[in-house]
Amino acid sequence: MNAISAVSENTAFNVARWRADFPLLAEQVYDKPLVFLDSAASAQKPQSVIDAVSYCYEHEYANIHRGVYWLSQKSTEAYEQARVKVQGFINAASEREIVFTKGTTEAINLVASSYGGSELQAGDEIILSHLEHHANIVPWQLLRQRIGIEIKVAPIDEQGNFLLEEFEKLLSPRTRLVAITHGSNALGTIPPVDDIIRLSHARGALVLLDGAQAVVHGPVDVQALDVDFYAFSGHKLYGPSGIGVLYGKADLLKAMPPYQGGGDMIKSVTFEKTEFADIPGRFEAGTPHIAGAYGLSAAIDYVSAIGMSNIARHEQELLSYATARLQEINSLRLIGTADNKAGIVSFELDGVHAHDIGTILDREGIAVRVGHHCAQPLMERFNITGTVRASFGLYNNKADIDALVAALGAVREIFD
Ligand code: ALA
Repeated sequence: MNAISAVSENTAFNVARWRADFPLLAEQVYDKPLVFLDSAASAQKPQSVIDAVSYCYEHEYANIHRGVYWLSQKSTEAYEQARVKVQGFINAASEREIVFTKGTTEAINLVASSYGGSELQAGDEIILSHLEHHANIVPWQLLRQRIGIEIKVAPIDEQGNFLLEEFEKLLSPRTRLVAITHGSNALGTIPPVDDIIRLSHARGALVLLDGAQAVVHGPVDVQALDVDFYAFSGHKLYGPSGIGVLYGKADLLKAMPPYQGGGDMIKSVTFEKTEFADIPGRFEAGTPHIAGAYGLSAAIDYVSAIGMSNIARHEQELLSYATARLQEINSLRLIGTADNKAGIVSFELDGVHAHDIGTILDREGIAVRVGHHCAQPLMERFNITGTVRASFGLYNNKADIDALVAALGAVREIFD
């Protein structure tokens, strides 16, 4: 046996074990085994995450930061431990730099509203890219309506590669912030974020990375990146939906006004004036997703035990295999073949609407996302209305891809 097949066999063995941790993957749909290829939309949950959420509600649930009683102390402790867990996971310098949000979308809205609303002025420029999800476009448009900033868009090429030199030309003395995806949800492209951050900082601009897709596909170290803001969601990281993270450098967060007002974000309130809590509490108004923090913490334990680098290697293997196998299908066009990609393949089949493909695949038990993937400007860039997207999680295997390819072959025959 050569070294490569030994590694592959070892991976296949491990994936079978990991897969068994996810109860939902044993479900049948239309009497067929589920083939789940939509983890970029939301990942399935391992038993340990389900158990952690249940444990919270069964044994330790109470509101946090408010009660002097035992239960409230327990849940407060677990919630704050989850913050420390996130800090370690992305290597933030302090747990105070970790703000819990509802998800990536709220994290980006927080920065646009709070940082953007207080630090940016009419005429200031921000740079997005053509790869962005609506969640990293619309909040900036709302800010533009509010204060009159300029939005510039960094282009990509026909393969979906981020064009660094073109990006550099957009940087100007008025550029205050660069908000770029760390992994395109629709194409899988991973932009050269180290260079983007270096070039932006050299021109005095801050950088926010939308890490919703990237954080699940490989290790992220916010200090090594030297990124200013980093946003991600729990639910794509095999954790619960309704909890996400905004990382921000402490000095930036300290200077930012609250995003929302309410309980748990104050030091004192009178009708005349309110004194706000320190970071990160200042940005966490109201009762948060307490059980979600238990689940997110368990999800981080789960992926950390496997190792983010092992997950990345496995998904790269699936990506190569899927890319090669899909190209066997007559008149299938891959959309997005960038040099550096996460485990996402997007494609169209000549003469067949993406929604028809999605519906036929569904009857075979195969779950994929079809349509514009909340990235309409990106679809427009390729002059299409949508794609079929298969996205891989740590539990996917080559048999899932074979099932997809076989079902697409059948679709091709129906429409030929
Ligand atoms: N952002 C998620 C996706 O790409 C919902 O499908």
